[in-house]
Amino acid sequence: MPKQRKILVTSALPYANGSIHLGHMLEYIQTDIWVRFQRSRGHEVWFVWADDAHGTPIMLRAQQEGISPEELIEKMNLEHQQDFTDFGVSYDNFSSTHSDYNREMVESIYTRLKDAGYITARTITQLYDEEEGMFLPDRFIRGTCPKCGAADQYGDNCESCGAHYASTELIEPRSVVSGSRPVLRESEHYFFKLTEFEDELKEWLNSGAMQPEVVNKLAEWFEDGLRDWDISRDAPYFGFEIPDAPGKYFYVWVDAPMGYASSFRELCDREGLDFDEWWGADSKTELYHFIGKDIVYFHTLFWPAELSGAGMRKPTAVYAHGFLTVDGAKMSKSRGTFIQARTYLNHLNPDYLRYYFAAKLSNGLADIDLNLEDFTLRVNSDLVGKVVNIASRTAGFINKRFEGLLSESLPDPQLYAKFITASEEIAADFESRNFQSAIRRIMAMADHANRYIDEHKPWQMIKQDGREAEVQAVCTQGLNMFRVLVTWLAPVIPTTTELAAGFLGTPVNHWAAISEPLLSHKINSFTPLLTRVEADKVAAMVDASKENLQATDTVNQTQIENNGDNKNMEIEALADEITIDDFLAVDLRVAKILSAEAVEGADKLLCLKLDIGNQQRQVFAGIKAAYKPEDLVGRLTVMVANLKSRKMRFGVSEGMVLAAGPGGEEIYILSPDSGAVPGQRIK
Ligand code: MSP
Ligand code: ZN
Repeated sequence: MPKQRKILVTSALPYANGSIHLGHMLEYIQTDIWVRFQRSRGHEVWFVWADDAHGTPIMLRAQQEGISPEELIEKMNLEHQQDFTDFGVSYDNFSSTHSDYNREMVESIYTRLKDAGYITARTITQLYDEEEGMFLPDRFIRGTCPKCGAADQYGDNCESCGAHYASTELIEPRSVVSGSRPVLRESEHYFFKLTEFEDELKEWLNSGAMQPEVVNKLAEWFEDGLRDWDISRDAPYFGFEIPDAPGKYFYVWVDAPMGYASSFRELCDREGLDFDEWWGADSKTELYHFIGKDIVYFHTLFWPAELSGAGMRKPTAVYAHGFLTVDGAKMSKSRGTFIQARTYLNHLNPDYLRYYFAAKLSNGLADIDLNLEDFTLRVNSDLVGKVVNIASRTAGFINKRFEGLLSESLPDPQLYAKFITASEEIAADFESRNFQSAIRRIMAMADHANRYIDEHKPWQMIKQDGREAEVQAVCTQGLNMFRVLVTWLAPVIPTTTELAAGFLGTPVNHWAAISEPLLSHKINSFTPLLTRVEADKVAAMVDASKENLQATDTVNQTQIENNGDNKNMEIEALADEITIDDFLAVDLRVAKILSAEAVEGADKLLCLKLDIGNQQRQVFAGIKAAYKPEDLVGRLTVMVANLKSRKMRFGVSEGMVLAAGPGGEEIYILSPDSGAVPGQRIK
């Protein structure tokens, strides 16, 4: 008997200001598959998380709906939990960061950090919206990137060149809340001294707690130098007030990860578990956080440092995944591929999606594409055509001819042994979150099982005299292989598994149980476990997702809803009106691209050499994901020729090339009609 492990698993807390969509579900399904797998291996596993209920977006969203933030988060909490339950997510506790448990947790961790000297105060200058009477979080300020000059960028980083900066550095800043131009104002803030944990974090990093991609990214961050972390926000703010600091609130990212611990604490009270055994500094239990690649910084620097500073254990590992795309592109409301969990559930069986995600997930950070056509084909051919098919081809004979009784022995024990041998490799794949590989192996075994039935043809044998016992044996072999396949797939397709358990008359979610075949056992009548994905249901889901758009068409609301999830931001606000003089202040020129080259050390940039008639310019443009450099050479485009030069890490950028689109692969550079000549001014 292998040693029983004690494992605590979390998913990232969804923001309480929006509905759950399939991007979230990628993470929650990934986590749940791993959790269910560990349970089926006989370990003690707890899966806890919560809604992330605090912060400015939630406050503003509640205002907009004319309800209190408490009402909003309560409503969303119920909606979220219903989505998770209906997707078969088997969590043990789902709480809220706006709970008494969390308040106590945050205050106690903060007090310990403060007593240990890890908190310091200093006055900072921030952008303040005078119309709304509030300091603006970075995401609520837009303006021109100070590094590359791209217009309409967020207050914290530029989607065009990838630069990070302070919102006060933005050129022409504007408040997303009121549209007004914010002013600078001073305020005292509290900081967490992250820098004091540098050595410890570096050591933790190399302890195997992180994926190689994350380790590399962190090495870059260390190279750039750690900075102390601003953990306070001024009223008005929806959050917890900082003890002994009236009008100052904990920044949402302080109390959010602490929600992992407080949700577990709540579970301890319900289940009689010992909190300190799991969270004490020398805990022997395992703690895993499943997160998206966008929130690695918070989970691999701030969070472990806070835990350590407060005398608590650090995570055993943090597992980051990539982002979900649909049909090869970022989820889009206009194309109907921004699909909410509920919209999916209204049309399709949750096991389809769980299976498809499993078939595509590996343990890396690559993005995962939900290709709707491939989804339909794959689920139908694998789950319905291969797995369920084994049962539907054999169960009828056992039920009708043998009163549901399986034979006393297996006719082909070697074949069954082959399955048991494959079992450990499959377990290793699940353990290392290489679900894709596990599914590949499982389907290869399903092919063996189908071939066995094809070769023995029970439907022919049954017509021949004296071969009854053989039919019973062949079908018993088939159903035993089916049982093993379903046991392996149980973490992935729980709804179907439950139906299969009812039909087989035995639980099918204990990994160890399959070492013994099911013999002389009575099964129940067979009902279809899973039907085919119907293409028109998929189309109806996409249609319904398009309709969602109308409900949320004001720019402000979209900004607020998508906050924290800007990767799905598609609708851009129109900039403020300008005069012809404002426009003429911008010197736009036709430019010919003389050369284009990738920039070493920069993920997104191409270095362009441009000819604008009497001069040549070097410009760094964040268009690497969208264009092959060689395709650009010789093309005409349009550049801002009088943009102040900027010194970047890679060299000086002397201007800016005009392009449209949300970013990443979707960037389209402008070109003039044929006949334009490099250097001509555009007006
Ligand atoms: N509230 C924070 C997390 C706090 S954890 C202490 C947050 N919330 S979120 O709602 O924006 O995202 C929750 C999780 O869903 C994150 O791990 C995020 O990466 C993941 N995803 C959100 N959109 C996603 C996709 N389109 N694709 C894959 N994962 C996505 O971040
Ligand atoms: Zn930029």
